[in-house]
Amino acid sequence: MIRKVSVAMASLALSIATLVAPVNAKEKVAAAPASIADASGALHVPEGYRTSYDYLGSWSVAAPKGKDGAAQIHSVYASPKAVDGYKKNGKFSDGDVLVKEVYETGTAPMTTGIVSHSEKLMGWFVMIKDEKNSHPGNKLWGDGWGWSWFDAGDTKKTTSTDYHTDCQGCHVPAKDTDWIYVQGYPVLRK
Ligand code: HEC
Repeated sequence: MIRKVSVAMASLALSIATLVAPVNAKEKVAAAPASIADASGALHVPEGYRTSYDYLGSWSVAAPKGKDGAAQIHSVYASPKAVDGYKKNGKFSDGDVLVKEVYETGTAPMTTGIVSHSEKLMGWFVMIKDEKNSHPGNKLWGDGWGWSWFDAGDTKKTTSTDYHTDCQGCHVPAKDTDWIYVQGYPVLRK
Protein backbone atom coordinates (compact mmCIF):
# COMPACT_ATOMS: atom_id res chain seq x y z
CA MET A 1 0.00 0.00 0.00
CA ILE A 2 2.74 2.44 1.01
CA ARG A 3 4.60 1.49 -2.12
CA LYS A 4 1.56 2.10 -4.26
CA VAL A 5 1.03 5.50 -2.71
CA SER A 6 4.63 6.55 -3.23
CA VAL A 7 4.50 5.40 -6.86
CA ALA A 8 1.34 7.40 -7.28
CA MET A 9 2.99 10.40 -5.60
CA ALA A 10 6.03 10.05 -7.84
CA SER A 11 3.94 9.99 -10.96
CA LEU A 12 1.91 12.89 -9.64
CA ALA A 13 5.12 14.82 -9.04
CA LEU A 14 6.25 13.93 -12.53
CA SER A 15 3.05 15.13 -14.11
CA ILE A 16 3.22 18.35 -12.10
CA ALA A 17 6.78 18.80 -13.28
CA THR A 18 5.79 18.31 -16.90
CA LEU A 19 2.84 20.61 -16.40
CA VAL A 20 4.94 23.30 -14.78
CA ALA A 21 7.98 23.08 -17.05
CA PRO A 22 6.42 24.41 -20.24
CA VAL A 23 4.74 27.26 -18.38
CA ASN A 24 8.10 28.33 -16.93
CA ALA A 25 9.77 28.03 -20.28
CA LYS A 26 7.09 30.20 -21.84
CA GLU A 27 7.43 32.85 -19.16
CA LYS A 28 11.15 32.89 -19.69
CA VAL A 29 10.82 33.38 -23.43
CA ALA A 30 8.41 36.26 -22.91
CA ALA A 31 10.55 37.94 -20.26
CA ALA A 32 14.02 37.19 -21.59
CA PRO A 33 14.75 40.15 -23.89
CA ALA A 34 13.13 42.50 -21.26
CA SER A 35 12.09 43.66 -24.59
CA ILE A 36 11.64 47.26 -25.55
CA ALA A 37 9.67 46.03 -28.59
CA ASP A 38 6.07 44.85 -28.50
CA ALA A 39 4.69 42.16 -30.78
CA SER A 40 4.03 44.62 -33.58
CA GLY A 41 7.57 46.01 -33.35
CA ALA A 42 6.65 49.28 -31.62
CA LEU A 43 9.57 50.40 -29.43
CA HIS A 44 9.73 52.43 -26.24
CA VAL A 45 12.52 54.14 -24.32
CA PRO A 46 13.75 51.58 -21.77
CA GLU A 47 12.77 52.55 -18.25
CA GLY A 48 15.63 53.35 -15.89
CA TYR A 49 18.29 53.08 -18.59
CA ARG A 50 20.44 55.70 -16.83
CA THR A 51 21.08 53.34 -13.96
CA SER A 52 20.64 49.88 -15.51
CA TYR A 53 22.45 50.48 -18.83
CA ASP A 54 26.15 51.04 -19.48
CA TYR A 55 27.31 54.51 -20.46
CA LEU A 56 29.11 54.45 -23.84
CA GLY A 57 30.10 58.05 -24.45
CA SER A 58 29.02 61.55 -25.40
CA TRP A 59 29.04 63.79 -28.44
CA SER A 60 29.26 67.57 -28.39
CA VAL A 61 27.73 69.28 -31.43
CA ALA A 62 29.48 72.63 -31.86
CA ALA A 63 27.40 75.81 -31.82
CA PRO A 64 27.09 77.69 -35.11
CA LYS A 65 29.95 80.02 -36.13
CA GLY A 66 30.25 83.07 -33.92
CA LYS A 67 28.74 81.33 -30.91
CA ASP A 68 30.65 79.65 -28.11
CA GLY A 69 30.48 76.08 -26.93
CA ALA A 70 28.16 73.27 -27.94
CA ALA A 71 24.64 73.52 -29.34
CA GLN A 72 23.76 70.00 -28.24
CA ILE A 73 25.20 67.27 -26.06
CA HIS A 74 24.35 63.65 -26.88
CA SER A 75 24.96 60.81 -24.44
CA VAL A 76 24.74 57.18 -25.44
CA TYR A 77 23.89 54.15 -23.30
CA ALA A 78 23.87 50.41 -24.07
CA SER A 79 21.81 47.63 -22.52
CA PRO A 80 23.52 45.30 -20.00
CA LYS A 81 25.93 42.79 -21.66
CA ALA A 82 26.05 44.74 -24.93
CA VAL A 83 29.55 46.03 -24.17
CA ASP A 84 30.89 42.61 -23.13
CA GLY A 85 29.40 41.03 -26.25
CA TYR A 86 30.80 43.73 -28.48
CA LYS A 87 34.28 43.37 -27.03
CA LYS A 88 34.15 39.61 -27.50
CA ASN A 89 32.58 39.45 -30.97
CA GLY A 90 33.42 42.83 -32.46
CA LYS A 91 29.73 43.53 -33.04
CA PHE A 92 26.48 44.06 -31.23
CA SER A 93 24.31 41.00 -30.50
CA ASP A 94 20.66 40.31 -31.19
CA GLY A 95 18.48 42.24 -28.72
CA ASP A 96 21.16 44.79 -27.71
CA VAL A 97 19.62 48.23 -27.22
CA LEU A 98 21.27 51.63 -27.69
CA VAL A 99 19.77 54.85 -26.36
CA LYS A 100 21.02 58.29 -27.35
CA GLU A 101 19.65 61.19 -25.36
CA VAL A 102 19.71 64.61 -26.96
CA TYR A 103 20.12 67.73 -24.84
CA GLU A 104 20.10 71.36 -25.81
CA THR A 105 22.72 73.22 -23.82
CA GLY A 106 23.43 76.25 -21.76
CA THR A 107 26.88 77.82 -22.19
CA ALA A 108 28.58 80.11 -19.70
CA PRO A 109 32.03 81.13 -18.47
CA MET A 110 33.03 78.98 -15.53
CA THR A 111 36.21 78.59 -13.53
CA THR A 112 37.38 75.99 -16.09
CA GLY A 113 36.72 78.14 -19.18
CA ILE A 114 33.68 78.60 -21.42
CA VAL A 115 31.55 75.57 -20.65
CA SER A 116 28.40 74.01 -22.12
CA HIS A 117 26.17 71.82 -20.02
CA SER A 118 23.07 69.73 -20.70
CA GLU A 119 19.97 71.81 -20.10
CA LYS A 120 16.80 70.84 -21.95
CA LEU A 121 16.09 67.24 -22.92
CA MET A 122 14.79 67.09 -26.50
CA GLY A 123 14.23 63.35 -26.67
CA TRP A 124 15.79 59.98 -27.36
CA PHE A 125 17.00 57.95 -30.32
CA VAL A 126 16.60 54.23 -29.67
CA MET A 127 17.96 51.29 -31.65
CA ILE A 128 17.59 47.56 -31.02
CA LYS A 129 19.79 45.00 -32.76
CA ASP A 130 17.74 42.55 -34.81
CA GLU A 131 19.55 39.78 -36.63
CA LYS A 132 16.39 37.90 -37.53
CA ASN A 133 14.57 40.49 -39.61
CA SER A 134 11.76 40.23 -37.05
CA HIS A 135 9.38 42.82 -38.56
CA PRO A 136 9.79 42.74 -42.35
CA GLY A 137 6.67 44.87 -43.05
CA ASN A 138 7.47 47.51 -40.42
CA LYS A 139 9.11 50.71 -41.74
CA LEU A 140 10.92 51.28 -38.44
CA TRP A 141 12.83 48.01 -38.78
CA GLY A 142 15.50 46.93 -41.24
CA ASP A 143 19.21 46.58 -42.02
CA GLY A 144 19.70 44.69 -38.77
CA TRP A 145 18.06 47.18 -36.40
CA GLY A 146 14.80 48.61 -35.10
CA TRP A 147 15.04 52.43 -35.23
CA SER A 148 12.94 55.06 -33.41
CA TRP A 149 12.86 58.64 -32.12
CA PHE A 150 10.89 59.74 -29.04
CA ASP A 151 10.12 63.35 -28.13
CA ALA A 152 10.90 64.27 -24.53
CA GLY A 153 7.77 63.73 -22.49
CA ASP A 154 6.58 60.56 -24.21
CA THR A 155 8.83 57.57 -23.80
CA LYS A 156 6.22 55.24 -25.27
CA LYS A 157 5.25 56.81 -28.56
CA THR A 158 7.69 57.10 -31.43
CA THR A 159 7.18 60.04 -33.74
CA SER A 160 9.50 58.73 -36.46
CA THR A 161 7.76 56.79 -39.20
CA ASP A 162 10.35 55.38 -41.61
CA TYR A 163 13.99 54.59 -40.77
CA HIS A 164 15.04 54.97 -44.41
CA THR A 165 14.06 58.65 -44.48
CA ASP A 166 14.27 59.54 -40.78
CA CYS A 167 17.55 57.87 -39.83
CA GLN A 168 19.54 55.87 -42.31
CA GLY A 169 20.82 58.63 -44.61
CA CYS A 170 22.64 60.22 -41.70
CA HIS A 171 24.11 56.90 -40.59
CA VAL A 172 25.64 55.99 -43.98
CA PRO A 173 29.15 57.11 -42.87
CA ALA A 174 28.90 54.41 -40.16
CA LYS A 175 27.66 51.68 -42.52
CA ASP A 176 30.86 49.63 -42.19
CA THR A 177 30.43 49.48 -38.43
CA ASP A 178 26.84 48.21 -38.65
CA TRP A 179 25.41 51.77 -38.85
CA ILE A 180 26.82 52.72 -35.41
CA TYR A 181 29.37 55.52 -34.82
CA VAL A 182 31.53 53.28 -32.65
CA GLN A 183 34.51 55.69 -32.69
CA GLY A 184 32.77 57.75 -30.01
CA TYR A 185 32.63 54.97 -27.43
CA PRO A 186 35.93 54.28 -25.61
CA VAL A 187 34.46 51.36 -23.61
CA LEU A 188 34.03 49.33 -26.82
CA ARG A 189 37.76 49.38 -27.48
CA LYS A 190 39.73 46.39 -26.36
C1 HEC B 1 21.11 64.55 -38.92
C2 HEC B 1 21.69 63.21 -39.03
C3 HEC B 1 21.09 62.08 -38.21
C4 HEC B 1 19.80 61.64 -38.19
C5 HEC B 1 18.60 62.20 -38.94
C6 HEC B 1 19.77 60.47 -37.32
N1 HEC B 1 21.02 60.24 -36.80
FE1 HEC B 1 21.48 58.92 -35.34
N2 HEC B 1 23.36 59.72 -35.20
C7 HEC B 1 23.89 60.63 -36.09
C8 HEC B 1 25.28 60.92 -35.72
C9 HEC B 1 26.26 61.82 -36.51
C10 HEC B 1 25.53 60.17 -34.56
C11 HEC B 1 26.79 60.19 -33.70
C12 HEC B 1 27.24 61.62 -33.40
C13 HEC B 1 26.21 62.48 -32.71
O1 HEC B 1 25.44 62.00 -31.86
O2 HEC B 1 26.16 63.69 -32.98
C14 HEC B 1 24.31 59.39 -34.27
C15 HEC B 1 24.17 58.50 -33.23
C16 HEC B 1 23.06 57.73 -33.02
C17 HEC B 1 22.93 56.76 -31.96
C18 HEC B 1 24.00 56.35 -30.99
C19 HEC B 1 24.70 55.10 -31.58
C20 HEC B 1 25.59 55.46 -32.76
O3 HEC B 1 25.18 55.18 -33.90
O4 HEC B 1 26.68 55.97 -32.53
C21 HEC B 1 21.70 56.20 -32.08
C22 HEC B 1 21.09 55.13 -31.18
C23 HEC B 1 21.05 56.82 -33.21
N3 HEC B 1 21.91 57.76 -33.75
C24 HEC B 1 19.81 56.48 -33.68
C25 HEC B 1 19.14 57.16 -34.70
C26 HEC B 1 17.79 56.86 -35.10
C27 HEC B 1 16.94 55.74 -34.54
C28 HEC B 1 17.44 57.78 -36.04
C29 HEC B 1 16.13 57.97 -36.73
C30 HEC B 1 14.92 58.00 -35.93
C31 HEC B 1 18.61 58.64 -36.23
N4 HEC B 1 19.62 58.21 -35.41
C32 HEC B 1 18.65 59.73 -37.06
C33 HEC B 1 23.23 61.25 -37.12
C34 HEC B 1 21.86 61.19 -37.34
